[in-house]
Amino acid sequence: MKPRVYIETFGCQMNVADTERAATGLRASGYDLCDSADEADVVLLNTCSVREKAEQKVYTRIGEVRATRPRKHEVLVGVMGCVAQLEGASVFNHAPLVDMVIGTRATDRISSLIERAASGERKVLDLGERGETDSWDVSPAERHSPHVAFIPIIEGCNKFCSFCIVPYSRGRERSRPASEIVAEVKNLQALGYKEIQLIGQNVNSYRPRVEDGLEGFKGATPFCRLLRAVAATGMPRIKFTTSFPRDFHPDIVTAIEENPNLCDWIHLPVQSGSDRVLKLMRRGHTRNDYWQRIERIKSSRRRLALTSDIIVGFPGETDEDFRQTLELVEQCEYDSLYIFKYSKRAGTPAANFTDDVSEKEKKARFLALEEVQRKNQEQIYRSYVGRTLQVLAERQSTRSESDLAGHSTCNKVVNFAGDRSLEGELVDVRVTAAKTNSLYGTLVNSSAVE
Ligand code: 5AD
Ligand code: SF4
Repeated sequence: MKPRVYIETFGCQMNVADTERAATGLRASGYDLCDSADEADVVLLNTCSVREKAEQKVYTRIGEVRATRPRKHEVLVGVMGCVAQLEGASVFNHAPLVDMVIGTRATDRISSLIERAASGERKVLDLGERGETDSWDVSPAERHSPHVAFIPIIEGCNKFCSFCIVPYSRGRERSRPASEIVAEVKNLQALGYKEIQLIGQNVNSYRPRVEDGLEGFKGATPFCRLLRAVAATGMPRIKFTTSFPRDFHPDIVTAIEENPNLCDWIHLPVQSGSDRVLKLMRRGHTRNDYWQRIERIKSSRRRLALTSDIIVGFPGETDEDFRQTLELVEQCEYDSLYIFKYSKRAGTPAANFTDDVSEKEKKARFLALEEVQRKNQEQIYRSYVGRTLQVLAERQSTRSESDLAGHSTCNKVVNFAGDRSLEGELVDVRVTAAKTNSLYGTLVNSSAVE
C-alpha cells in the first residue's frame, strides 16, 4: 500500500497554495494523501509565524499529533512553512519528536525528504531555495475547492515593514511568468472553475523577468497588464489579494472598470492611521497617500468593496496615534476589517523597539476599533438589502441544510435557500437581510445584476 500523507494547513492563502502544490508533487511520487492525522504515515504541518499565537499553535499541534500516535516510529512528522524556514534546526530542539523541517522553498523536494526520514535519517532539514525546474503545477484533485482556485503570481516580499516577518520567512519577491499564469487560468476554466484568486504578499509589485504573456496588454504596471491578460481569458470571476498602498496604481481601478469579470473587491491594508506610526512601521506611505488611493476606489463607477488590516498597539503608539486610526477607519468605511494586536517577531526591526503598549491597552484599543468597525459595517451590509448580487454557490450552509452559501463578487458571504444541485453555479441572489458579517437572500431567476 502507498504511504499516506496528511498535510494540515495554517495561516494565509499562500500556505493553502503551497499545500496544494506539495500534495500534487507527493501524489506524482507515489504517495496517497489522506484527510486526517489518524490515518497517516506522514503528518506535515504547514505553519504560519506572522504572529506569536500562530507559532505557538504549531508546537501545541505537534504535541497532539504525537500524543494520538505514541509509537513514534509509525508516523513521521514534518514541519513545513514559515515556522520551518525561520526556526530551522531549532524546531528539533523545541520539539524533539519532529523528523523533518521543510522550508518555504522546499515544496518540490518533500518526497525525497520523506524518503530520507523513512530510511532512518534523523533531523532531516531543507531550507534551500527553489530549484530552477520547480513546478507550480497543481492537480485539480489537490485544490482546496472545486469552484475557487488560488493562483500564486508572486512569492516573497521586498517591503520589510518593520513589524513583519514575511520578508524573512518567504524571502525576496519572485514573480511567475504571465504566460504560465494565463495558461493555468485557461486550464481551470476548462475544468469548470468559476473563480480564481491571484495571490501574493504584495500582488501590485508583480514584475516578471520576461514579458512573455503580457504582449498586447496595456496597463500602467506589469500587474495592471496581467490583470487585463487574465481578464481576457474569460474566467467568470477574478479576485486578487493582497494589495500594497505604495504600489497600488489607480490604473488597477480602471482595469476593473473595463472588465466585468474583475471582481468588486479590493483588500488594501493600511495598518495605522497615524503618519508617525506609519513611519515607524516603515510602510513608505502616509495617511494622505493612502486616502488618495481610497478616493479613486470610492469614486469608481463600479461599487467596489474595500477591506483592510490594522495593527493596534505598535511600539510607541500613543492615544493620539490610535485616535487617528479610529478616524481613518471611520473615514474609509471598510466593508470588513482584520484587526491585530501587535506581536513582536524576533528578527524584525520593530523587535528592537520597546514594546511599550501594555497588553491591557492593546486589548482596549482592539475592542474600541472593533466596535467602530462593527457599527460602520452593519450600516454597509444593510445597504445591500434589496440589491441583487451575483453569488458563486460554493457549499451547503453550515446553519441550515436547505441553504447554500457562497461569496458575492464583492466578497461577502451570502446565504440563500437553494438545492445542492446549484453548487458550483453562479446565481443571482436578491439580498433580503443583513447580519454583521454575512448577507441573506433569495434566488432570482433573472440574470440582471445591479
Ligand atoms: N503583529 C501583529 N500583526 C501583524 N501582521 C503582520 N505582522 C504582524 C505583527 N508582527 C498583520 C498585518 C498584516 C496581516 C497579514 O497580519 O496587519 O497585514
Ligand atoms: Fe509584511 Fe509589509 Fe511585505 Fe505585507 S508588504 S508582507 S506587511 S513586509
